[in-house]
Amino acid sequence: MPSTPDYSPENREAAFAAFRAQHPCYEDTRILDDLRSREYARLDALDQVYLDYTGSGLYALSQLRRHMALLEEGVFGNPHSKNPTSLAMTHLVEQAREYVLRFFNASPEEYVAIFTPNASGALKLVGEAYPFAPGGRFLPAYDNHNSVNGIREFARAKGAEVTYLPTVPPELRLDSKRLRAELEHTQPGSHNLFAYPAQSNFSGVQHALEWIAEARAQGWDVLLDAAAFVPTNRLDLGRWKPDFVPLSFYKMFGYPTGVGCLLARKEALQKLRRPWFAGGTISITSVQGEGWHYLLEGAAGFEDGTVNFLNLPAVEIGLHHIAKIGIGTIHERVTCLTDYLLRQMSALRHSNGAPLVKIFGPADTTARGGTIAFVLNDPEGIRLDYRKVEALANRENISLRTGCFCNPGSGEIAHNLTREEMAAIFGRDEPVDFETFYEWSRREYGRAPGAIRISLGIATNFADVYRFMRFLASFVDKPHTALHKVQVEYPMYDLLRDSA
Ligand SMILES: Cc1ncc(COP(=O)(O)O)c(C=O)c1O
Repeated sequence: MPSTPDYSPENREAAFAAFRAQHPCYEDTRILDDLRSREYARLDALDQVYLDYTGSGLYALSQLRRHMALLEEGVFGNPHSKNPTSLAMTHLVEQAREYVLRFFNASPEEYVAIFTPNASGALKLVGEAYPFAPGGRFLPAYDNHNSVNGIREFARAKGAEVTYLPTVPPELRLDSKRLRAELEHTQPGSHNLFAYPAQSNFSGVQHALEWIAEARAQGWDVLLDAAAFVPTNRLDLGRWKPDFVPLSFYKMFGYPTGVGCLLARKEALQKLRRPWFAGGTISITSVQGEGWHYLLEGAAGFEDGTVNFLNLPAVEIGLHHIAKIGIGTIHERVTCLTDYLLRQMSALRHSNGAPLVKIFGPADTTARGGTIAFVLNDPEGIRLDYRKVEALANRENISLRTGCFCNPGSGEIAHNLTREEMAAIFGRDEPVDFETFYEWSRREYGRAPGAIRISLGIATNFADVYRFMRFLASFVDKPHTALHKVQVEYPMYDLLRDSA
């Protein structure tokens, strides 16, 4: 009979010692423990286990202090003017822009950094302005976030062919044979856009960056969604040359929200045809003629209205924070802890030998990041309701994510949902929400198309993952009926340190 490891608080030190022996590189990341106690102390003060870094990163105290000091000491006006307060702000905005390029090793000769409200805003800029046309193609991966999936609406409306590229279970990687075949299939003179994530926000899979050069060599423009990749991995644009790279800064360092970026190759940017103009994007226009306006060159032509100017210096502060720690150090720590989790989670068994956890995606850390999607099964193999698992996690102060994570394609593959089954739900007269879809799928097909996701990041430590394992181990030998009485409710949490 398999025995469940001891995840008690008393055994933590021994478990940590065993973990360090197995992951000697963890020692090189000890600077992050120091930071955890100084910069992210609120996590422990509020007794919170934060495991939703793919949802949002966490900010360090010093980021806030630096930003507030700058605002307290300066006088800043709208950067669209030419007065002293405006010019002071313009200087900081342009300095932040330069640093963004430097951080990603993107040559200013080759790339521009366009500030957007978030990654979705960056994706919309590309989608609405890409020269889709009959004869051209849009090739998105199944594994895309919905903000990439949405581009297909622009492609379809303009008559381009849309082909989804499936991922293959159990690892949920791109089907390389199929991808190669699709890349070969373009018409001369057409515009073709291939869009895939560097790291899946569902399974943590890292899709090969080598596809970028291969696709470009076949005449494709490549959109590499880096939103889930850059918080814990180096993206070197001196080496990889995607045409468009959307990202959100809060996912990297938590603060500020409301600022993202489109890193775009200048040559590719020239292809885009904006469907409108706004204040700040044109040099002049006239109200007396049809379509008279001159779009500004480079980033300015794509930044609608006033940029989030007071927050842009905080982007530079956040990037410096990451650079000072070293993205390699963050990557190393997340990889060690992910390895621990993958091993421990897969080893959890009920007394009858049946596995408790089913992980979607790679079982080890090869070409995968620190995002793990999974479901729990009871000893008879019956799926535990993810909503009840989340409700129980909430009681333990564990923040995880459940549902489909805005990534329907990976969910459909992971849960074996067929086109016919999905067509039935989309054939209804009324709009359907995820809960209804989930219940319907359970009833009609005996499938439970929801998963649980944990994701690690800059401030994660061994204590966090150990406590999460203790929580998971509490489901060993629990029949699914034991969760029936768990109430799924969402009380207001007051997570302010002074009121704790
Ligand atoms: C891979 C990926 N792309 C795009 C997005 C969209 O980011 P935002 O909501 O900040 O626009 C997310 C958000 O989770 C993501 O994980």
